[in-house]
Amino acid sequence: MTNPTPNSKHLPDLVPSLEDCIRHRHSIRFYKPDPVPQDLLYECLSLAQLAPSNSNIQNWRLTLASGPARDRIVSALQQASQAHGPNVPPLPEQFKHFRSEFGHLLYGEQGYNIPRSAKEEHKAATLRNYEFFGAPVAGVIAMDSSLTVVDAMSVGMFVQTFMLALTERGLGSCLQVSVTGYPEVLREGFGLPEDQAILCGIAVGWPAEHNRVNEIVVPREEVGRVVTMLND
Ligand SMILES: Cc1cc2nc3c(=O)[nH]c(=O)nc-3n(C[C@H](O)[C@H](O)[C@H](O)COP(=O)(O)O)c2cc1C
Repeated sequence: MTNPTPNSKHLPDLVPSLEDCIRHRHSIRFYKPDPVPQDLLYECLSLAQLAPSNSNIQNWRLTLASGPARDRIVSALQQASQAHGPNVPPLPEQFKHFRSEFGHLLYGEQGYNIPRSAKEEHKAATLRNYEFFGAPVAGVIAMDSSLTVVDAMSVGMFVQTFMLALTERGLGSCLQVSVTGYPEVLREGFGLPEDQAILCGIAVGWPAEHNRVNEIVVPREEVGRVVTMLND
């Protein structure tokens, strides 16, 4: 087994703390076109590779595309999204209010600032998902389809570690369930075998600065709403 030995060549002079990275990470939906050096990605992936997994099976599979490979996938996704709607399972009823609150933030004055009546503008903003928000690196996250939800936990840990390592180096990211609505396009574009279950897409790149959409702060529930502590 190879032992990942991440170096810290790409860290800023003043290294942010873990808490800074956790607090600073948020979804980035506007990117600079500048490419992301492969060794910088590798450094973050080597750290992500240290995530825990059930029996150490390391069942995350990530395929990243940049350059012409990324552009081909974007074209295919754009074509598919013009032809038909995405096939993404709807959120269960009890979670829908979160989506609507988040939608107000993203499309409202604090974000895209698109009036509710401007249906075409709204659609165009949503369709930005299929160009990975302009990110120079587009990815798909998958795992073996014979595994179950417990193993999806490990993939999540890998992905969060990856995103925190990116944040530490000034890079941005956005996870994207939206692109999984066109699984055939992802399979073909990223060369994913049939035995891999597609979990999510991811955009990676340098965040565009002074961009309102990139600065929206999405609130969280109080800890007491999601964690139960039994003491006696
Ligand atoms: C599994 C997953 C799928 C997501 N899919 C999308 C997506 O398709 N499009 C999008 O704009 N954001 C997507 N997001 C980002 C969430 O909207 C975002 O994480 C959430 O609103 C919290 O905001 P923050 O990441 O800025 O803290 C996704 C996040 C996760 C974890």
